[in-house]
Formats: sequence, C-alpha cells, structure tokens
Amino acid sequence: MTSKLRIGALTLANNLILAPMAGITNLPARLLARRYGASLCFTEMVSVNGLVREGRKTFDLLRSSPDDRPLGVQLFGDEPGILAEAARLVEGYADLVDINMGCPVKKVVGTGAGSALLREPKKVADILRAVRRATKLPLTIKIRTGWQAGQHTFHEIGRIAAEEGCDALTLHPRTRAQMFEGHADWELIRELKDAISIPIIGSGDIFSPHDVVAMLERTGCDGVMIARGGLGNPWIFKQAQALLEGREAHPPDARERLAVAQLHLDLFTELAGEPVAVREMRKHLAWYVKGLPGAAPFRAAANTIQTKDEMLAAMNSFFGRAS
Ligand SMILES: Cc1cc2nc3c(=O)[nH]c(=O)nc-3n(C[C@H](O)[C@H](O)[C@H](O)COP(=O)(O)O)c2cc1C
Repeated sequence: MTSKLRIGALTLANNLILAPMAGITNLPARLLARRYGASLCFTEMVSVNGLVREGRKTFDLLRSSPDDRPLGVQLFGDEPGILAEAARLVEGYADLVDINMGCPVKKVVGTGAGSALLREPKKVADILRAVRRATKLPLTIKIRTGWQAGQHTFHEIGRIAAEEGCDALTLHPRTRAQMFEGHADWELIRELKDAISIPIIGSGDIFSPHDVVAMLERTGCDGVMIARGGLGNPWIFKQAQALLEGREAHPPDARERLAVAQLHLDLFTELAGEPVAVREMRKHLAWYVKGLPGAAPFRAAANTIQTKDEMLAAMNSFFGRAS
C-alpha cells in the first residue's frame, strides 16, 4: 500500500516523490509529476550564493504556481551563515527546505558544497544548526554514502542530521566517486533506516513502478524518490501507486503520451517563452518517445526543430503513427 509520509509538519498524501534534477524539475515537469500522483516535488538545486546576491536568474529557479504544492526547495552551498540566510529567503516559496549534500559534479564540490560535505561532518553539523535556527519549515538533507569507497560517512551524517533537527533524509546509496556508475546499493538504505529514527527516503535506480515496490519492501524506507525513471514518464507515479494498492499498472498509450508531451510544451512555453521552450523540450521529447518504434530518427529530427508549430506537427505525426 502507498502510505502517507510525515516530514515535520508536512503530511504528504503518499510516499512517492519527484527528485530534484538540475535542468529538469522546473514548474512544468513538477506539475506533470503531480498530475500523476507525486505527493512532493523538488526544485533543482539552487545556489545559496546566487540567492543572497539576489540574482534574478537564481530566483527564476523558484518559479512556481498555487497547484505546485507542496514544494521542496533544494539549496546548495557550504557556508552555514549563507545557507541559513538563503533558507530564510526561500520561506515564502517553499513548504520544505532540503540541503544538497550529494551532488558529485566538479563545479559544485570544488566550492565545498554537494558531496564535498560528506567529508566534513563537523561542517554539516554547523550548517544544520544554523539552518534549523533560521527556519521553521521542514528541513531535510539529501546525501550519498560518502566521498569514495572505503570512506562511507552516511551513518555519521545521518546521526548528525537526526541530532540537529532534520525532519527526514534522502539517501542515494552511491559514493561521490561512483557518479552514476554501478548499482545503487539499496542494502545501505536499509542499514540507515535501521540506525536512525527520522524518516528515510530512498533514491537510486528507480526505473519502473516495480522498482518502487521493491525498494520499499527491501529497505523499509519511508518514501521513494523518482529521478531518471520519471524522465518523459510521469505515469510512473500512478503505476507505482496502482501496484502498491494491489492493482495492475497500465502503461500510457500513444494518445496519452502525445497529450502529456503537448501539455508539457504548452506549460514550458508559458513559463519561459517559445524559443527556450522549444530548445529545452527537444530532450524531453526524446524521453517521451523512448522505446517506441522510430524513436531514433524522430530524436534526430526533433533536434533541429525551431518553432512550437513545427514541434507540434512532428509530435502529432510521430504519435499518430505509433497509435
Ligand atoms: C540530470 C540529473 C540532474 C540531477 N540534479 C540533481 C539536483 O539538482 N539535486 C540533487 O540532489 N540530485 C540531483 N540528481 C540526482 C537525483 O536526484 C537522484 O538522486 C539520482 O539520479 C539517483 O536516482 P535514479 O538512479 O533513480 O535516477 C540529478 C540527477 C540527474 C540524472
């Protein structure tokens, strides 16, 4: 069964969550995930330095709408004072604040943020204390298991998170060094769930609704975060919910895929204007057609599309053939 999930003062309708993904989980992607059952969605990681310098571009990442709730805003940074100030600044936008302690990319770890924090438990404690004092919003962190093999610090960081008043923790059980290679070791989610008392959300290698059920069963985690498995596939939330309630999970037909891809394009155009929407939707379209006959040539052709009308015509033609 799906179950409600409590994160501090927030009670979520179910335990299926859209992960933060840079360049992907903006307002249109979140609205579509919610339409199919995601009970909580995250912004992509937002730079606290950008926020406190009041960069308009950074605040653009917080653009939302009344039906985009509850919303988790994910922050990245490494200075306790700046993270605390940023947490205060996003209070009017967020229902929950998450701190990124897992991002493996050089540009982020080079500043001491993201997974670089997994090597600095003392700094993690300082950050959480400062942010906890700054906001009453539910506070969570998202971590990997450690910097590299042999340096697993997730138990220690998890204990600190619980002690410093975090309301939940998401674990993606890969090290920083693994990036996205190999398998996410779900056994480590189970270990952490057994070790600390705050809710644990599992992330990693959720590509089908069956994976959602398997992760909940095998790890005992309180919630599941869906990332790459949700790309061009918001139906995964509804399908997982169906399986968890003992029903069959039906895949979308071509007409439904077309309708959702069109809606995605419309929402994106509304948010960012046609040129940006068309450029960004090329990658989403590649995900929407994945696995269907003719997907490869369609992807190649979609990459040269310049206008919304052209894109709509190409989508109609592709999905018309696929139905
Ligand atoms: C394109 C992309 C962007 C991501 N951006 C973020 C991010 O901004 N913040 C974050 O905490 N994790 C980010 N992640 C990691 C995901 O949230 C998730 O933890 C990871 O992909 C593992 O889940 P999966 O194997 O089910 O995809 C990103 C992942 C991808 C693929």
